[in-house]
Amino acid sequence: MSEQTKQSIADSLESNKRILPYMPYLLQDMWALGCALQPIIDAAAITGLHEKSKVLDLGCGKGAASVQLAAEFRCNVLGIDATEPFLKDAQTKASEHKVSNLCEFVQEDILEYMKTEYHFDLVILASLGGIFGSFENTIASLRSQVKNGGYMIIDDGYLRTRNSLNRKGYQHYRNHKNTIGELTSYGDKLITEINTTDISRQINDEYLFVIEKRGKELIIEKPELKEEIEAYILLQYEECEVINTEIEGALWLLQKSLE
Ligand SMILES: C[S@@+](CC[C@H](N)C(=O)[O-])C[C@H]1O[C@@H](n2cnc3c(N)ncnc32)[C@H](O)[C@@H]1O
Repeated sequence: MSEQTKQSIADSLESNKRILPYMPYLLQDMWALGCALQPIIDAAAITGLHEKSKVLDLGCGKGAASVQLAAEFRCNVLGIDATEPFLKDAQTKASEHKVSNLCEFVQEDILEYMKTEYHFDLVILASLGGIFGSFENTIASLRSQVKNGGYMIIDDGYLRTRNSLNRKGYQHYRNHKNTIGELTSYGDKLITEINTTDISRQINDEYLFVIEKRGKELIIEKPELKEEIEAYILLQYEECEVINTEIEGALWLLQKSLE
């Protein structure tokens, strides 16, 4: 795996390259790794997914959205993620939910995958932050994977009051008006916006609880990582505080314009 991919995974998990190998251990108790699941399913329902639909889940993690969409709509889902242990869990979950025949999980850097255009019915980007840079760049990337008239779901958020935040991982955030402006800058239709602030708080609380519990276990097993793990947990508390204060959680469903 390239250093760039490792950095991208570390950034998406607000981690660092040294403790990256231990992230699957720290996150073993969570299936969804940040996405607002029910809003994703609700938004997907609006698109009229059916047995012939093809869905792309970018940065699918352990397949929480992929598997539940396949189970609910019997659609075909391709999940792409660079973290192999997460993909193994995704396959296990697909099997438990009896949708292995509908789900494919591939280990690849999504930035590489996006270099080719595809024609999915729906593309999902859930809890990947600013991996493509600004929201304008994000929508440009997503729409290259969707057929005309197809749909895109972005599970992220916007700044409550300010119009920018000078903090690593938060540079793509804008206020609501400017976020919507960027998301629709290619003429795509905003079908719905679902507020996910409360769900995001619950997810963050669960996240803090599990990483603290698993972090303590890991320190006993690997005392040499004590400083790194403690710093990581502290950073997560800080991140959650910033999110709770500054960010309104939102999920957007957009329909690609007929070009
Ligand atoms: C915060 S998790 C979200 C996972 C999933 N969408 C969910 O909400 O359950 C971010 C995921 O993106 C993956 N990731 C980050 N950068 C990536 C890249 N460049 N290529 C592929 N996967 C990447 C990580 O491995 C991780 O599984």
